[in-house]
Formats: sequence, structure tokens, C-alpha cells
Amino acid sequence: MELAVLDATLLYPPTPRKVNAMTIPRDGLAVLGPALAFALLMSDYVSNSQAQIKPEAFHRTIDGSQVDVYMLKNANGLEATITNYGGIVVSLMVPDKNGKPGDVVLGYDTLNDYIGSTPYFGCLVGRYGNRIAKGRFTIDGVVYQLAQNNLGNALHGGLKGFDKVVWQAEKVDGSDGPALKLTYTSKDGEEDYPGTLRCTVTYTLTNKNELKIEYAAETDKPTFVNLTHHSYFNLKDGGASDILGHELVIKASRFTPVDKGLIPTGELRSVAGTPFDFNKPTAIGVRLASEDEQMQFGTGYDHNWVLDRQGKDLELVASVYEPTSGRFMEVLTTEPGLQFYCGNFLNGTNKGKGGTVYQHRTGLCLETQHFPDSPNHPDFPSTELKPGEKYTQTTVYRFSAK
Ligand code: GLA
Repeated sequence: MELAVLDATLLYPPTPRKVNAMTIPRDGLAVLGPALAFALLMSDYVSNSQAQIKPEAFHRTIDGSQVDVYMLKNANGLEATITNYGGIVVSLMVPDKNGKPGDVVLGYDTLNDYIGSTPYFGCLVGRYGNRIAKGRFTIDGVVYQLAQNNLGNALHGGLKGFDKVVWQAEKVDGSDGPALKLTYTSKDGEEDYPGTLRCTVTYTLTNKNELKIEYAAETDKPTFVNLTHHSYFNLKDGGASDILGHELVIKASRFTPVDKGLIPTGELRSVAGTPFDFNKPTAIGVRLASEDEQMQFGTGYDHNWVLDRQGKDLELVASVYEPTSGRFMEVLTTEPGLQFYCGNFLNGTNKGKGGTVYQHRTGLCLETQHFPDSPNHPDFPSTELKPGEKYTQTTVYRFSAK
């Protein structure tokens, strides 16, 4: 079983090294341009520390569709491994301030582990990311009842959301880096949502060191759509230790307070003077013990921020800096909201990659999306999609080190 490598120049595993169909011996590096030499060294380094993702552990047929794992590798040696089961980002190798690559997302070594039980590690979420109160909404006077899979509410698309389906995968040579195009058609009535929804999600690992996610969807009946991505990031060590020292910025003056079931009350509350103000870089851990009622309801941060946006284009909305590794991640999106979840439900029951046991708050999610329960809040930005309209959303996770 071979791993599909979506890369213009380098093969996996990286020996012999091939660049534009030439094989270059290591001592030939001296005569290469510094950038190319760096890329070659990095590719070797990254692939060695990537060895735990075994393609055969993902190669399987589910409901007649082929599941595999695909590797994107950009010109600077960054690597992302993605499976078309749930569109899950299995690993993401990013250099630290010393140039040493490390995996920055939580996940599992095998497809079976993901099928067994996962707190949405690295997946695509749909049709509706986040919660819908009582799993109920109305369109054109018709009441739709969804599965109530989270404290009487609907969460993350239902019992078998987009995180648990097989997407068709196609390798694409994007102009800004290697890409994987995933498509999935959700049938009319699937998970009790109306309308046939044709979805495309393209992951690109750009040569600017970004994981870019572009979503598109079309329907044949009015429906609700809110797609997002659920990677748990840990820029320090991929989940071996907690994320409390990560310094977060969210460009938002308001957030949507919730009830005990994490359903928005409808209020857009100012973050000023609360633990929800991340307009200046603040370590995630410093205000977690706050007695703010919202922190009690969320058992920590598990809320949607109302982003301060200039317009509807792709915009920088958040960043995370991890001081020991120096890794820095910026989040750009076209979406109006950002769910920041700090891994409150991780409790040591998930044994992940390389045997790492993910303890409490060892990963953080920055889920770009529309607000939770928008179908029941007409004053929130609308998530309704009608026939003839095109749903689009773009989100970029951009990496560097300092
Ligand atoms: C989202 C939710 C959290 C939790 C996680 C998955 O981020 O907001 O409450 O359900 O997904 O565990």
C-alpha cells in the first residue's frame, strides 16, 4: 500500500531524493541554492519524525467507498496527513523556532481508533457545526426535528455527521501548494436535514506555510449549513502536555453567552472586564479559575466570539503563540464567529498518536463558523441556504515561529 504524496518534487519515503527527476546525493547539497538545500534537509527530517502514520492503518473500504490517507507536503517541508474519512487532519508537522518539526495536532494512529471513539479530532463538521437548541428548527413553516445528541440539543451534524462519512478524494495541484479536494453529497433527509447538499472542501498546504480550508455547498431545498473544522492544536508538543501557557488573541469585542446546555441566550455581550477579553495576548490558563458564571457553564472556555470584522473577505481574526517552542499560528477566516474550546472534556480516556494519552486541556480548538443555534436566532447572521445560492467559507491556519 503506497501513500499518495501530493507534492511537486519530493517522494515519500524521501530516499532516493528526487528533484525534478534528478537524484541528488547528500554531499551535492553544498552546490545547491540554500533554499533548496534547506527544503531537502527538512523533508528528510520531517518524514523521519512522521513515520508513525502508516498508510495501511487507514486503507479500508467503508460502505463501498475507499478510505485512505493522503500526504500534502509544501515547498518548505511542512507536511499534513489527511484521511478522506471525515476529512480528518491526522497530523500536521510544523517547525519550531529551532527549525525542528513537530506534530501540532491531536489524533490517532489508525482509522479504527477514529471509528471507535473520537472527540471530533481534526475532522470536518457538518451540516451544522456546533449546537442547535433541542435539535429543532423551522423552515417555511415546517418543523424539523434532528437527533438530540448533546444534553437534549443537536451537536455537530448529528449521530453520523460529516466527520463520520467517507468523502471522495482527488489530488489537486493548486497554484499555491499541494491540495486535496474532498466532495460529499448529503442526501435529502440525511440526519433529518432537508435538501440534498453537495459539498466540496479543499485542503491546501500552501507554500506560505498555511493550511487553507475552502468550503463550498449547494442545496436543492432550503436548509441550514454551518461547516467548520475541528483540529485540536497543541503548538508545544502535539498534546503531551496542556495548552494553558499558549497565548491567545481573539479580535472580538463581544461573545455569545450561553445557558447551561451551551445554547446562546441571544445576547451579544461585551468581553470588556471579563475572562473572555482576548484582544491582548493572554495565556489561556490565567483566568480559567474565574467565578464568572459563563466559565462555570462552559467548564472553561467553550464559547463563540463575535469577531470584529472589517468586511466579508478573508481576515486575520485570531492567533496563538506558544513561548517554549516559539510556534505561532494565525487564524484567518471569512466567518463571523469563532468557537474557542480549550479541551475541557479531554480527560485521559483518549490514547492517541504514539501512545500519548490526552489529558485535560491538552488541545485547543479554534472553530471558525456562524454562531451556534443561528437557525433559532433570526437576528444572528443567517445560516440558511436556498436553492440557487452558493455557500462558501474559507479559513486559513498560518504557521511560523519566533
Ligand atoms: C465543540 C463543542 C464542545 C465539545 C467539542 C467536542 O467544540 O463546543 O462543547 O462538544 O466540540 O468534544
